[in-house]
Amino acid sequence: MTEKYKRYLVTSALPYANGPVHIGHLAGVYIPSDIYTRYLRLKGCDVISVCGSDEHGVPITIKARKEGITPQQVVDRYHQLIKTSFERLGISFDIYSRTSSPVHAETASAFFRKLYDEGKFIERTSEQYYDTEAQTFLADRYIVGTCPKCGNDRAYGDQCEKCGSTLSPDELIEPHSAVSGSVPEKRMTKHWYLPLNEYEDFLRRWILDGHKEWKTNVYGQCKSWLDGGLQPRAVSRDLDWGIPVPVEGAEGKVLYVWFDAPIGYISATKELTPDWEKYWKSDDTKMVHFIGKDNIVFHCIVFPSMLKAHGGFILPENVPANEFLNLEGDKISTSRNWAIWLHEYLDEFPGKEDVLRYVLCANAPETKDNDFTWKDFQSRNNSELVAVLGNFVNRALVLTTKYYNGVVPVAGELTDYDRATLAEMAAVKGSLENNIETYHFREALKDAMNIARIGNKYLADTEPWKVVKSDPKRVETILHIALQITANTAIAIEPFMPFAAAKILRMLAVDRFGWERLGASDLVPAGHTIGKPELLFEKIEDDVIQRQLDKLAVIKAANLAAEASQNVEQQKDTIAFDDFQKMDIRVAKILAAEKIAKTKKLLKLTVDTGIDQREIVSGIADRFTPEELIGRQVLVLVNLEPREMKGILSNGMILMAEDAAGTLRLLQPDGEVSNGAVVR
Ligand code: 2FM
Ligand code: ZN
Repeated sequence: MTEKYKRYLVTSALPYANGPVHIGHLAGVYIPSDIYTRYLRLKGCDVISVCGSDEHGVPITIKARKEGITPQQVVDRYHQLIKTSFERLGISFDIYSRTSSPVHAETASAFFRKLYDEGKFIERTSEQYYDTEAQTFLADRYIVGTCPKCGNDRAYGDQCEKCGSTLSPDELIEPHSAVSGSVPEKRMTKHWYLPLNEYEDFLRRWILDGHKEWKTNVYGQCKSWLDGGLQPRAVSRDLDWGIPVPVEGAEGKVLYVWFDAPIGYISATKELTPDWEKYWKSDDTKMVHFIGKDNIVFHCIVFPSMLKAHGGFILPENVPANEFLNLEGDKISTSRNWAIWLHEYLDEFPGKEDVLRYVLCANAPETKDNDFTWKDFQSRNNSELVAVLGNFVNRALVLTTKYYNGVVPVAGELTDYDRATLAEMAAVKGSLENNIETYHFREALKDAMNIARIGNKYLADTEPWKVVKSDPKRVETILHIALQITANTAIAIEPFMPFAAAKILRMLAVDRFGWERLGASDLVPAGHTIGKPELLFEKIEDDVIQRQLDKLAVIKAANLAAEASQNVEQQKDTIAFDDFQKMDIRVAKILAAEKIAKTKKLLKLTVDTGIDQREIVSGIADRFTPEELIGRQVLVLVNLEPREMKGILSNGMILMAEDAAGTLRLLQPDGEVSNGAVVR
């Protein structure tokens, strides 16, 4: 630990309790924070890791309304699910609290009250949308209308989820209330604002001058916010779910969720230890906020301004925010169910907690958005965890059991190669530490795995299984060394894969080592009896992966169908029956089909209409191959005026259905019928 700091306070973004946790949350926030915390604990540092559920905010009330339950019931359900899932994955928070706790309400209220009493807020009255039918002010999310940018008629007052634009309710075309459907009116309402503009100088000095070492994505976002000029931000809302604004005349108003949530870190620490002030109020505490990139402004600009306004609290020393993880090439989305949910993974892959931890760290979106694919998951498991780590540990343990009945042999005189191998292993420590301490967890994981690679290479080069016949004494030394490397592997991987680390120690029948022992070559003494070797990781077969891919395919199809049904074309003007009668639609069979040269889309079809055989040109070559079409019965508008296309007279039109997603289908009778049958 650097001299300056005596203790660490690690915070992880409080997940919203309106849905389960998915792999994006894990890769972005919780795996890195857990690696960092476990490493510090292993080093013997004074460290606490705090987190909890973020239980306020509009999305929770929307969900409750949709499901016909109370917001409290929503958060109770997800708080439990999230908490248990984290525990099952080995995410080792010292406390996982929740923002509906009484301690939090008290802490957040007192925080607000102090700022209020000291005149740190400004009060402003402004016009907000009000739903007269439901008798409630409407948060931006509760106002729905047509997006002015893309025409999506289900855009929210703060964002259009279709085109991704950030919106304000005033920009929506035909805004209406999502609560009652009625057209809202504007009413005056009073709110409290934190004048962020007054903290600009402090933030510039603290971040732009003082924290040039922050990750470029974080520093860059802060700079662009600061360069753009800060505005006062409302810290209260008209809502019936949240912490009541603790001042007179604030009935029906609650603290804005982003005001109370970060204070949740303080409340959680209070709940954890009566010594909480030591962590929050001493300059020799190093506070690190682990978050995703969408939280940067709140943790680097807003919360620090709140802390500064309040006074007496330390500021974060670093905010190593990650970018986003995608899933199979698409943005992870809770509303579209496009995610791998942690609780489902844990149920479907029992005993494979570390595999997920490993893959999400190895592929973490540290500097850019990354993609999770099931194929990559499988290949990292099979060719890295099984083939490198598992294989090495297994060989060292099995050979010791086989040759020495599990008793660690005495090392004889070391060769130069032995010494070089041990030195190479010991050298990993420095790089591993440096990478963890600078939040380069992917590189750190590579370092940890390197110890197993060194071990594998050592066994492959020294070939104890061959040498045992000619020089059994030498094999004693080789396996003695291999067991030391095995024990080192357990130390190095513990922050990343705590279950596998514990299993290695169990198989070695030794107690857990402190981090300072990493690099040592006397961890498992000669004469010690090891335990029973078992496989550390198992190969994942193709059918297991295929099942997951199939599951995603079903979700994707359902999403496409839902999107298409949301965007059905408007009905055309009514027509008279006579107009319909004018169309002569017949069942016809496609006899021949060929692509028309030098065109991308055109097919020449020869069809038997029952009346005659004729040619029709159709622009469907990009959707259907000629082979798919030949022999099929379709519907043809036969009395459409003939038209020449590419020198061919097209005599009719093949009828098709096309949805908003662009899926094109031929229409055909539901059973064989004579060509020429009339459609009426
Ligand atoms: O983005 C989110 O999921 C928020 N619930 C994070 C809150 S972090 C904090 F400030 F509590
Ligand atoms: Zn849009």
